[in-house]
Amino acid sequence: MQKFLKRAGIVLGVLVGLMLLSLAVIYSRTQARLTRVYELPEGTVPIPVDSASVERGKHIFQFRGCEACHSEGGFIDLPEAGRAPDSHLNLPSQDIPHMEGNIYLDDPAVGLVVASNLTSGRGGVAGDYTDQGWVHAIRHGIRADGTPLLFMPSTEFYFLSDEDLGAVIAYIKSAPPVDHELPVSTVSWTGRVVMTLVPAITFIPAELIPHMAARPVAPQAGITPEYGEYLTYSCKVCHGPTMSGGPIPGFPSSWPPALNLTFGAGSSLPSWSEADFMSTIRTGVTPDGRELRLRYMPWTSYRFMSDDELKAVWVYLQSLPSLEYGKR
Ligand code: HEC
Ligand code: HEC
Repeated sequence: MQKFLKRAGIVLGVLVGLMLLSLAVIYSRTQARLTRVYELPEGTVPIPVDSASVERGKHIFQFRGCEACHSEGGFIDLPEAGRAPDSHLNLPSQDIPHMEGNIYLDDPAVGLVVASNLTSGRGGVAGDYTDQGWVHAIRHGIRADGTPLLFMPSTEFYFLSDEDLGAVIAYIKSAPPVDHELPVSTVSWTGRVVMTLVPAITFIPAELIPHMAARPVAPQAGITPEYGEYLTYSCKVCHGPTMSGGPIPGFPSSWPPALNLTFGAGSSLPSWSEADFMSTIRTGVTPDGRELRLRYMPWTSYRFMSDDELKAVWVYLQSLPSLEYGKR
């Protein structure tokens, strides 16, 4: 009996030791990723100051989803049934810039992720940023101290043209200071384990960006498939690289699958007109009366696209190979 207990004790000791060792390895590996200082291209983009460009910057800030993440109540949790009329018009006034920061994610399984207050008010980051710093943050996902930002989707914004990026930065710089202090983003212990074992969840977008490669060429604005594609990088996160929908990799299993946006089997789009598509994105309600759940499909950002922008997206969707639902 004593011998057995001794052996069991040894086995237990070895197991506990191995566990502590793997936790130490996970901690030091994730710490190295979180504190890595990246090599980035020098320089900035032209930052306009005229009011038309600042207005254009605001437009981009809204339809590209910056405002939804970086403003309080940007994504409101609408009750899934019984949406009150106009309850989706959550942005209090379209004339005031909303970038005061917001808790983006507060989940013990991942950590606390804060979409920063971008203004120069108390708790805001503007004071830390030079023009080059703004470019590095938005296009490369790197904060002012050179370390990577968490969950900030720079993998999409990497493709922004110099002109669009310059306009967005001009808009951010024009915003009045807003005092709004927020906690610092942190990854929890389980978050570190997930970060190590589940590569489908992108904790650090900067790891996926070819920082020093030649810049991709942005298409000319127009109602063309190329420009439509330029406007839809964010859609692919959920609707998939081929836009055919299906369950979203790395997202909680409670999420509904994204729908097919090609014209293949299982898609509603073949029965829609351009006007139907535009009104779906603008109102969150499909031609057959289905309400898109804002929590999963952020149409309140996309509704800010201009008519021509939505038409370009529609032309792009029509140009895609017709795939069956879920051929991501
Ligand atoms: C999906 C949500 C999301 C969207 C969309 C988003 N951001 Fe962010 N952003 C974040 C989060 C989260 C952080 C902070 C991450 C951290 O603290 O590590 C951040 C950080 C930043 C920072 C660096 C701030 C700092 O703390 O140093 C800038 C600048 C920024 N975002 C600008 C933008 C702009 C401009 C856009 C639109 C073109 C945008 N963001 C869209 C979530 C988002
Ligand atoms: C965060 C994930 C996510 C992003 C980003 C996203 N979608 Fe969606 N989309 C969904 C989900 C999930 C649904 C289904 C929603 C529901 O059933 O309530 C959906 C539904 C739709 C529908 C309705 C399709 C139908 O057959 O009824 C359209 C149209 C659509 N999305 C277009 C877009 C476009 C265009 C973009 C980018 C500009 C985009 N989505 C970005 C998740 C997303």
